[in-house]
Formats: sequence, C-alpha cells, structure tokens
Amino acid sequence: MGDLIIKNIAQLVTMRGPNRLRQGEEMRDVEILENGYVVVKDDKIIAVGTGDVYKNYLENHTAVVDATGLVMTPGLVDSHTHLVHAGSREHELTMKLEGYSYLDILKAGGGILNTVQKTRKASFTELYDKAKKSLDIMLSYGTTTVEAKSGYGLDVDTEVKQLEVAKKLNDTHPVDIVSTFMGAHAYPSDYKDNHEAFIETVIDMMPYIKEHGLAEFCDVFCERDVFSYEESLYLLEKAKEYGFMLKIHADEMDSIGAVDIACMLGCVSADHLVETKEEDFEKLAKYHIVANLLPATSFNLNKGYAKARKMIEAGCGIALSTDYNPGSSPTENIQLVMQLAGLKLKMTPKEILTAVTINGACALNREKEIGSIEVGKKADFVLFDVPNIDYLIYHFGINHVKDVYKNGKLVVHNQRVCYKEE
Ligand code: NIG
Ligand code: FE
Repeated sequence: MGDLIIKNIAQLVTMRGPNRLRQGEEMRDVEILENGYVVVKDDKIIAVGTGDVYKNYLENHTAVVDATGLVMTPGLVDSHTHLVHAGSREHELTMKLEGYSYLDILKAGGGILNTVQKTRKASFTELYDKAKKSLDIMLSYGTTTVEAKSGYGLDVDTEVKQLEVAKKLNDTHPVDIVSTFMGAHAYPSDYKDNHEAFIETVIDMMPYIKEHGLAEFCDVFCERDVFSYEESLYLLEKAKEYGFMLKIHADEMDSIGAVDIACMLGCVSADHLVETKEEDFEKLAKYHIVANLLPATSFNLNKGYAKARKMIEAGCGIALSTDYNPGSSPTENIQLVMQLAGLKLKMTPKEILTAVTINGACALNREKEIGSIEVGKKADFVLFDVPNIDYLIYHFGINHVKDVYKNGKLVVHNQRVCYKEE
C-alpha cells in the first residue's frame, strides 16, 4: 500500500486546511503533529497521522525512514524569483556603499540593464547551467517549487530564450518551475525616450509566449521612473486579455497606485509592498490578493521593511520569497528569508511557515497540488535537523535541511542534492 513511510517525526507541520490563501489570524492556525508519520505511494501522499498507525501501510517493498528528532514541513515554495539570467553585479555593491541608490544605478544604464546586456549575449546553455546551479542551491535549502520571471531580455528573442531555459529546467530538474513573463521590467536604453513603442513591443510578445505555453503569469515593475501607473495598468490589462494570470511589483521604492491596479484587475499577488499605504492593506485582504513580501531585498538594499504585522491585522494573506536576482537580492536561501521575516517583519514561526508553503502555493495557483502535507497532494517535503519550528527561525544564517523529498523521491540527503540527472 505504501512505497515510503517516514515515521517518528518529532514535529510534523502539516498545514492541513482549506486550499486557499490563509489570511490574517488564520496564518497562525497551523497543525503540528508530534510523533507523526507520512505515507507515500508513487508521487502522492496517501496517509498522515501520529503514532504507529503507519504499520497498516507496510508492505514487503515499503521503505521506512526514521525521523526521530526531526521536523518535517511541506516542500517550501519560493514564489518570486528572477532565476534565469547571466552574470552578476558585485561591482554595484561598492557603488551602493558610496551612496548611489538602486534607481540611480538603473538610470545610469546599470542595474537591470547591465544584466540585460549580459543575458542577451549569453547562450541557452550558459543560462541553463547557471540557473541549474541556483536551483540546486534552492533545493538544498528546502525549496521544491519556484517561480521564475523573464525580464532580462527586453527583446523578443531573449525573453523567449529565458522562458525556454526555465521550461527545459522544469522538465529536467526536480524543482517545479512556474514561469512569469516580465518583459516590462525596465526600459531598454534604445527605448528610453520612447516608452509607447516599447510597451507595444512587450504587448506584441504576449501572444507568442502564451501560445507556446512559455509563461502562466505576467508581471510588471510598477514604480516611479520605471513603469508608471497608467503604463502598468495598460500592460496588465492586455496581458489579462491574452489569458495570463497577473502579478505586480508593487510599492518597492514608492507608492504609485500598484495596489489599486492589483484590485482592479484581480492580480494573484502583489509583491514587495514596502511603501504601501496602510489603507491599502484592507484592499489586499478584501480581494484575497497574496501579499508577497521579500525581506531579503530590503536587507540587501538596506531599506525599510514591509509592515507585515499591520498587514496581518488587516486580514492580509502573506507569502514570503527570496526575489533571487543579481541586483537587489543575490541569494537563493529561503531559510534566510524566513529568519528575516521573524527578526525584521516580526512574523511568528507559524505565520512564516504558512507564508512559504500554502500561501506561496496560492501565489502560483498551485494550492490544490502543493503547500500542505495531506492526502492527495504531491509528496514534497523537507526534513529539518531542528528540535522544533521556533529553532528554525532562531538559529539564523545556516542551512537546517537534512533531507528533501520531491514527488516522493529523495532528492537531497544530508544537505547534498542526490537526484538522478535526466
Ligand atoms: O524585484 N524590482 C525589480 N526587479 C528586481 C530586481 C532586479 C535586478 O536588480 O536585477 C526586484 O527587486
Ligand atoms: Fe522581483
């Protein structure tokens, strides 16, 4: 009956409950089973419980793993990353230390545009190899599903190249990838004074990307000096007409109405939300828009943090992600994000776990398949070498993963990836 049984789990964080965004106080309502077990058949979970009831599922061929002293959570979901890109931007670190802001660097043709130049020149294989390395790191930290945005091409060939790399990695790598088209990430230098023409260029890319199944979501960097309120609204309206689900980079540096766009168009998530006006929190809650917070970006840019406590009080449903990218958040480490959420956003361990599991799944429209350990869901889970969930947030800056299972298969053992290459 069972192919794999994990037994004697010290704390089994199931996240069982409704397959929808957990909002406000619900984020703290987390089931933790002591001395738990999970039974897997093929790639799915077929039983969850406590004690020795697992014995009913034993067969001759069943593999049994003893998880005494370990904590198990659902596979972590990193629902906002810029995974596929070329190169790195460590030279900007010194500029930032000298006082240049992120947007100053972008205006001077650096920042995102620096990565665009490199990504345009890179071959498919170069992009694939670099992204694969990052996916291995993510997996070794417990991430089993990741979102990946384009947006370092800003021309049709490179945007498609980035999305095709993500598609191939989704086929070959154990981590599941959900792709987002983000042609509206910055204005390329040759369109600096011709925004209208660039916006039409981005819109012209949409049907091809949709028809070839290269992205489920479309995202826009709605920000002062980047894509204005009107431009972002227009782009996302068009994306919706072409059948994309929507996301928006909202209020990262300045608040220019991105939350209103999210509410008007029914964005699945609004991301960043550092400068969001407090009266907008209730709107996010009312429209069940995932508030996707990215504290590693605040940390790395040395900026303010999103007001997570007030958001939760207003009834928002929060997800947490790395925003992994070569500029504002060069880290694949979702555990660091969880620890920053505890230390800087004042979220509790239970809220944090909700944010990186079921609410992350909601941000990717995957809440029926992943995000909790319950019968029928994918057998994606992480065993952490920690005595309890508080410890995971408290002891910061190191990797607490012991093993990771993806679709019922062991893919990380003692922190090392061990999946078979396809
Ligand atoms: O989410 N804000 C826009 N995009 C990314 C940064 C991308 C980059 O700097 O390369 C972000 O922070
Ligand atoms: Fe981002």
